[in-house]
Amino acid sequence: MAKINKNYNKLQAGYLFSEITKRTKAFQTNNPGVEIMRLGIGNTTEALPPSIIKGLRIGVEKLAQASTYTGYTDEQGDKRLRQALSDRYKKRGISAGAAEIFISDGAKPDTANIQSIFDVKSTVAVQDPVYPVYVDSNIIAGKKEIYYMVCEEKNGFIPSPPGKKVDLIYLCSPNNPTGAVATKAQLKKFVDYALNFKSIIIFDAAYSEYIQDPKLPRSIYEIPGSSKCAIEINSFSKSAGFTGVRLGWTVVPIGLITETSGPGKVNELWNRRQTTMFNGASNIAQEGGLAALSLEGQRECKKIIEYYMDNAKVIKQGLKSLGIVVFGGMNAPYLWIKTPRSLSSWEFFDKLLSEAHVVGTPGSGFGPHGEGYFRFSAFGHKENVQKAVRNIKKNLKL
Ligand code: MLT
Repeated sequence: MAKINKNYNKLQAGYLFSEITKRTKAFQTNNPGVEIMRLGIGNTTEALPPSIIKGLRIGVEKLAQASTYTGYTDEQGDKRLRQALSDRYKKRGISAGAAEIFISDGAKPDTANIQSIFDVKSTVAVQDPVYPVYVDSNIIAGKKEIYYMVCEEKNGFIPSPPGKKVDLIYLCSPNNPTGAVATKAQLKKFVDYALNFKSIIIFDAAYSEYIQDPKLPRSIYEIPGSSKCAIEINSFSKSAGFTGVRLGWTVVPIGLITETSGPGKVNELWNRRQTTMFNGASNIAQEGGLAALSLEGQRECKKIIEYYMDNAKVIKQGLKSLGIVVFGGMNAPYLWIKTPRSLSSWEFFDKLLSEAHVVGTPGSGFGPHGEGYFRFSAFGHKENVQKAVRNIKKNLKL
């Protein structure tokens, strides 16, 4: 007799972004002809630059000839791509060997799947507000406890390490949703904590390329000692526009140590997991990834990032001119605002949609400490973003 996984009953009713889509569709049905502007989900909108398109084409062309055709390739990823990433880390003063880098189809699945190699009795610390995937994946897996590290205005939305012993710690910096970026000193506290308790940090660096301030760390491995206690997950989605192409990577250092294992074991387990449950990223996407890491690719990607960061500026200035308190948007593509007149996050969502026809993301969807906040995404065509801001300034009744 089949029985369902009851842990699913413990999840919040709907995945946040599906709920937003549902409510937006309902508004559209009731208000046909109204143009809706979307600053909700962090989904890239700009065309891939020429060098990446060229790379993807190379991938396609290779499939057209038996002599260059590839079927399944290494589950860990194309060696050239792993090496190119390793070289990029090296240029940034970080040692991450190709054998420590696993290519995937994106950061989201990796952040969801990585918990599977750790004990079900683990206590898992997450930031609150938090990217929902970390919480939901651990709940589905039946992990013992989720410990929330409060992120609020008082601590600049960067928490201190947990006040008790935890096993796994998810950190996202630049942060989704708050746009806050942890300094080296703040990350060092987590690394010291993890080394002390033999905890593992799962560092989501998907937005690292949006950091403008050179003093801010773009990788947890900029912190000495971190290769003994931190896994880093990253993605081509936001840095190279691969949200639909799908490509990411996870660094699992050989030197990781847990309470019950020495060097090599965590890397071995992730390899075991991936070789069992994953058949490798698309070979076409990986050619595109290689192109994205080339000098020309990096130059072109940087321009697109600048484009989105200009959007962030436009949104920030527009909202501030209305007296709204805005955080983030300086080193991250997300802006985190305090809802005006103490409206709840969903109340503000409905108001913004009905009055200004703009969709954003309610902060409460990211956790209890997101209540009373709201997230705007800077991903979008410049004209649409400008129009959205104009509409907000003109029509939102504050
Ligand atoms: C977001 O809007 O938070 C992102 O699109 C989530 C993601 O990258 O999966």
